[in-house]
Amino acid sequence: MAKHKVTMTINGKSVTAEVDSRLLLVHFIRENLDMTGTHIGCDTSSCGACTILIDGKSVKSCTYLTVRADGADITTIEGIAVEGTNHPLQKAFHDQHGLHCGFCTPGMIMRSIDLLKTNPNPTEKEIRWGISGNLCRCTGYNNIVKSVQQAAAEMAKEKEASV
Ligand code: FES
Ligand code: FES
Repeated sequence: MAKHKVTMTINGKSVTAEVDSRLLLVHFIRENLDMTGTHIGCDTSSCGACTILIDGKSVKSCTYLTVRADGADITTIEGIAVEGTNHPLQKAFHDQHGLHCGFCTPGMIMRSIDLLKTNPNPTEKEIRWGISGNLCRCTGYNNIVKSVQQAAAEMAKEKEASV
């Protein structure tokens, strides 16, 4: 199996490694880097549990080759809290009981970060559509929607205060 040298930034740190050409990014993150917050639910791009940000865009890392991420700037769930303070989405999922077992939660949050970046004030319908590629078998989605709404309001407040 051919090996390739890759270098990427993960949660602000530069990482260089030699990887097999067929190594999937989710396996690189979980197994090579020991960062297990990114989950694997299906391995077929169906559930969204493996969602991370690549150059700011949410991507399902179970169907993304590690070699393709060479040079990329990657963020995983482990990288979104700032100096010990949870991201507004992490806080909102906690406040609104947006999780039960928590298996889908890292992917839901990473997807929602991208959603709120492109649409900071989404309607309920837009939230439901925006997270439609991420499956949750526990919550019935209502509290996830409320979590995204709380985070959107919180982030808008933060933005206003910083101007
Ligand atoms: S594990 Fe990637 S979409 Fe399900
Ligand atoms: S909280 Fe269990 S799958 Fe979503």
